Amino acid sequence: MSDTVLAVVGLGYVGLPLAARACEAGLAVVGFDVAPQVVEGLNAGRSHVGDIPDATVAAMRANGFAAVDDAAALAGCDTVVICVPTGLDAAGLPDLSALRAAGHTVGRHLGAGTLVVLESTSHPGTTDTLLREILEKESGLRAGEDFHLAYSPERIDPGNTQFGLRNTPKIVSGYTPLCLKHATAFYHRLVDRLVLSAGTREAEMAKLLENTHRYVNIALVNEVARYCERAGIDVWDVLHCAGTKPFGYTAFQPGPGVGGHCVPVDPRYLDTHATEQGFTFELLAAARRVISAMPTRVVERAAVVLRREGRELAGSRVLLLGVSYKPDVADVRESPAFPVAALLRSAGAEVAYHDPLVVEFTADGVPVRRETELSAALGRADLAILLQDHSCYPARQLAQAPCALLDTRGKTAGARVTLL
Ligand SMILES: NC(=O)c1ccc[n+]([C@@H]2O[C@H](COP(=O)([O-])OP(=O)(O)OC[C@H]3O[C@@H](n4cnc5c(N)ncnc54)[C@H](O)[C@@H]3O)[C@@H](O)[C@H]2O)c1
Repeated sequence: MSDTVLAVVGLGYVGLPLAARACEAGLAVVGFDVAPQVVEGLNAGRSHVGDIPDATVAAMRANGFAAVDDAAALAGCDTVVICVPTGLDAAGLPDLSALRAAGHTVGRHLGAGTLVVLESTSHPGTTDTLLREILEKESGLRAGEDFHLAYSPERIDPGNTQFGLRNTPKIVSGYTPLCLKHATAFYHRLVDRLVLSAGTREAEMAKLLENTHRYVNIALVNEVARYCERAGIDVWDVLHCAGTKPFGYTAFQPGPGVGGHCVPVDPRYLDTHATEQGFTFELLAAARRVISAMPTRVVERAAVVLRREGRELAGSRVLLLGVSYKPDVADVRESPAFPVAALLRSAGAEVAYHDPLVVEFTADGVPVRRETELSAALGRADLAILLQDHSCYPARQLAQAPCALLDTRGKTAGARVTLL
């Protein structure tokens, strides 16, 4: 067991699992975060990340882990891994303010020989230009000479019980071959299989490609679903049939939109960067048009279902089932449930939601009423819309609901069920 000291900067969905795995692997770990509630919670043994139970935090604490809000703790660490958010600003453009702030903080406490790794998703060139320049300016040290600089994109998949940090192949890249060597030695201790990329820009682009691939294909199946409706074809049967091909086809499902911190966000990083290079991604613009129209399509379909029931959207009680962005997780970031709720409200519907994982849900600044008991909630609604396929929604119970059901996930069948 070595006494390598690791500092994880940003203790969220990515940073906390990394800190947990490093503790498990025998490293001495300190976590730095700017959010006092995160620091206090972890030091009190409370996890704020769904995949990390309190018991894991307790085990980390027993292994010496501490969360801090004082950056002085970064001084003297062998390795610093930056896992801060890289989201979008109010104009929908890449927001690198947390990454810049973390760079300044790390740079001010950087010592010679330290390995600094960026895990946050960003556009190609972020590591070898933006972050490197901040670190060098703050520290007076040179990357590749006085300290080591690397990029290794996180591939964490919240809620995934099969693949975690340890058994998901991890891309590792270095600013120089020596930087790569140090980064590889570090990650070998945490991850079973490493994939070495040619450089930091290739690793940054690989991450953007993974999520853009998903985004574009989700747009494709949503467009296919719209076409099939127009042409009188059962899209869910089409998807089932196509999905049986054992090679050359990857199955994606239509739905109310795309949520989360990555899939709707990362293509923005790619096309903003491409535009700066004078390059236009035709597919991305088309995919964005299709995906951003999905909440409107859900509401249009809701109106059709209600009309069949002799009702209008205005004045109807509509129950949203599942408002988080993916099944069985509590994260609502960029969830399509927000625009769906707002559009339903502006059409005059009385909106409520049911989601055992989400205790508060606010659309356009106005809280949406929460239902906590599924059967009673279904009994009170004129229409339920299955937005998220949580495992607490048995297809049978939904199919027999006393209200009409619009199923955006293709999960149920029944006389009063309409699929998206
Ligand atoms: N969540 C995922 O599933 C996922 C998967 C792959 C990659 N990523 C990428 O990983 C990065 C981190 O995402 P996340 O989901 O963990 O974010 P998060 O919001 O869950 O956590 C980020 C943490 O960083 C802290 N923070 C913000 N600014 C800071 C600063 N200057 N110094 C120290 N701490 C700071 C925040 O307080 C927060 O606790 C992003 O670039 C994201 O795109 C996320």
